Amino acid sequence: MKPTVFVARRIPDAGLKIIEPVCEMQVWENSLPPPYENLTARVKGVDGILSLLTDRIDGALMDAAGAQLKIISQYAVGYDNIDVAAARERGIAIGHTPGVLTEATADLAFALLMAAARRIQEGVEYIRAGHWKTWEPTTLLGADITGATLGIVGLGRIGKAVARRAGGFDMRILAHSPSATAETAAEAGVTLVDLDRLLRESDFVSLHVPLNARTRHLINRDTLRKMKPTAILINTTRGPVVDQQALYDALSSGVIGAAALDVTDPEPMSPDDPLLRLPNALIVPHVGSATIKTRDRMAVMAAENLVAGVTGKPLPHPVPSK
Ligand code: GLV
Ligand code: GLV
Repeated sequence: MKPTVFVARRIPDAGLKIIEPVCEMQVWENSLPPPYENLTARVKGVDGILSLLTDRIDGALMDAAGAQLKIISQYAVGYDNIDVAAARERGIAIGHTPGVLTEATADLAFALLMAAARRIQEGVEYIRAGHWKTWEPTTLLGADITGATLGIVGLGRIGKAVARRAGGFDMRILAHSPSATAETAAEAGVTLVDLDRLLRESDFVSLHVPLNARTRHLINRDTLRKMKPTAILINTTRGPVVDQQALYDALSSGVIGAAALDVTDPEPMSPDDPLLRLPNALIVPHVGSATIKTRDRMAVMAAENLVAGVTGKPLPHPVPSK
């Protein structure tokens, strides 16, 4: 009998094609995620779950699935939606999709950095509103990127990829990363500093830490106040790394210059969110890895993890053990 799996959303065919010949596969066909209750019901008796970052996978859900559950394969690099300790206690393997989305996510972080620095969104709105009457010496002036100081918080794969891009703009690059070695820093061309100094000296602060108890609200009222009044904050990791109310207050009162976000808290952001009315907030809907090639590669990786897990093989891409 084939192992059974539940795939929590339709992922690119490149992944489904790998799963289908090996597994009895059920796919959640709705474009919105399965509500927790539906997910709990649908995973009953399955050997594997392919999850997305929108699915809460906790101990109760694992128990509802049953003791035969062997693998949770996350279609994302981040896995803060999964209770890793609960999975480990139950002997359930967890896979994710690191590496393949590094460059796409770093590209988006840099796109946001540049768009916020040069006020691209405001420029588009300026034309649409009929304000473009002539070439103006002092309208829509932005920040220089070349030669500016970039602070990278979290020097993992994505943080390093952002540093490579910054090198091309002759930026001075500071990084804060408790786990980075001097060798890693030298290779990445960054200077390791403590968070306070990074916040004080950076023109741009880009966040690349995973969300966990230590990084939740890492950017808050206090840390925002340490930043330059012209500083631009870029967040492409997880919304709750930033205290969003504190960010709103900081942006609306000139504590920092601007923010560009690919992630919010909560997601989705309500269209009525006051942040969307601030000219110095640029927000896109969690599209860091959203390129055709990257999403295909993620699908293949998540499928390979799933198939390995249900057939009792070591996962090619397990989440790291802490
Ligand atoms: C997306 O946010 C991911 O973690 O892959
Ligand atoms: C994710 O790929 C990271 O380690 O930054």
